[in-house]
Amino acid sequence: MHPQKTGRSLRGAISVPGDKSIAHRALMLGGIAEGDSVIHGMPLSGDVLTTRDCMRTLGVQISDPDADGRVVVEGRGTEGLKTPLAPLDCRNSGTTARLLCGLLSAQRFSATLDGDKSLRRRPMARVVDPLRDMGARIDYLADTNRLPLRVEGGLLPFTLHKPEVASAQVKSALLLASLAAGSGCRLLEPVQTRNHTELMLAHMGSGLTLVDGIVELPPGARISGREFELPGDISSASFLIAAAVLLPGSDLKCLNIGVNQGRLGFIDTLQEMGADITLENQRFVGGEPVADIHVRHSALKGTTVRGSRIPRIIDELPLLALVASQAAGSTLIRDAAELRLKESDRIESTAAMLAALGISCETHADGFRISGPQRVKGGRVDSRGDHRIAMSAVVASLLSADPVETSDEECIAVSYPGFREEIMRLVD
Ligand code: S3P
Repeated sequence: MHPQKTGRSLRGAISVPGDKSIAHRALMLGGIAEGDSVIHGMPLSGDVLTTRDCMRTLGVQISDPDADGRVVVEGRGTEGLKTPLAPLDCRNSGTTARLLCGLLSAQRFSATLDGDKSLRRRPMARVVDPLRDMGARIDYLADTNRLPLRVEGGLLPFTLHKPEVASAQVKSALLLASLAAGSGCRLLEPVQTRNHTELMLAHMGSGLTLVDGIVELPPGARISGREFELPGDISSASFLIAAAVLLPGSDLKCLNIGVNQGRLGFIDTLQEMGADITLENQRFVGGEPVADIHVRHSALKGTTVRGSRIPRIIDELPLLALVASQAAGSTLIRDAAELRLKESDRIESTAAMLAALGISCETHADGFRISGPQRVKGGRVDSRGDHRIAMSAVVASLLSADPVETSDEECIAVSYPGFREEIMRLVD
């Protein structure tokens, strides 16, 4: 069977909102730098606004975007944050909660971190345990391993870290704690994850080095405010790229996209499946690699994704499952048990999304197997409040001849406000 023809294609050029991962870090590191920072292209994603609001509660002045989208972050130095007068509400943002947990561990005041229903379900021990090993005092206020929690602050000695979980959030929390404590640290990851924090710390003059996979931040490191040009978010662009690969006649350019190696797993996988995708005009901006991504419709075949590829594609796996249902043959995704700990249990929510669209998929404890091509029927998708599921459903709606509805589609605003309107603008 062949995927159905809907007559739709995606054509043109588009810039997507600035990178969410880099924006969180620019706001936090900018707030503890010496001297002000200027952020160009800050996304108005809900998660980034959450970090902005928490940093404001910690006493950092952060301007609203001016007419050119520039945001100024006051640098208060590593000892300049203020005691928050209320709990810090991390809402739906795991990156905010985990990175702040690290940053607050080395302050001379106490602070409480909390989040929404979804974030309260997600594990915190992955950052709390290594931070406690460094000497941090952190108490769970309700259930072990969950928000809300109270960070008492304190002194953290120099340590060699080998985090157990391959997570950029854990690595970044440890680096932020060490920087704020002035203690320095040496860190070896089990599997390499996105290195935005390391690149930014190096760019801000901390003296951070990366040799043979070991990240080393010297004791007493200081950082200076900088101008940050945020590239477009590749995780947001991935939904447009997937739609263009799948819709016959498509030819799309996503301009000025961050192509950090730790984020390129989806592009690498699509290329292995046969997609016609090229990275053009490659350059470095503020230490981060950036490119225009040119994508044309292509016939795909199934593949296997596992092992060290997983952290490099983790946010795109629900979308890959949908893409795999349109590829010839079988696709196997394994070693991805982390998916169960995201904004929803993304193994179950992805399988339920596919089932609602008439697509069968076999689930495993740590992944899926999907055979293709399968027809995308109309139906009602339960997003479970998870932006990546709701965005995958929007892509599915373009593949289906029948209507696809999604519950709670507003949740897309945590990463890409206006996504549906933007993708529809490109439909020919
Ligand atoms: C992120 C890291 C990833 C990713 C998340 C953002 C970051 O989480 O899933 O969306 O900005 O550091 P893990 O580090 O837990 O894998």
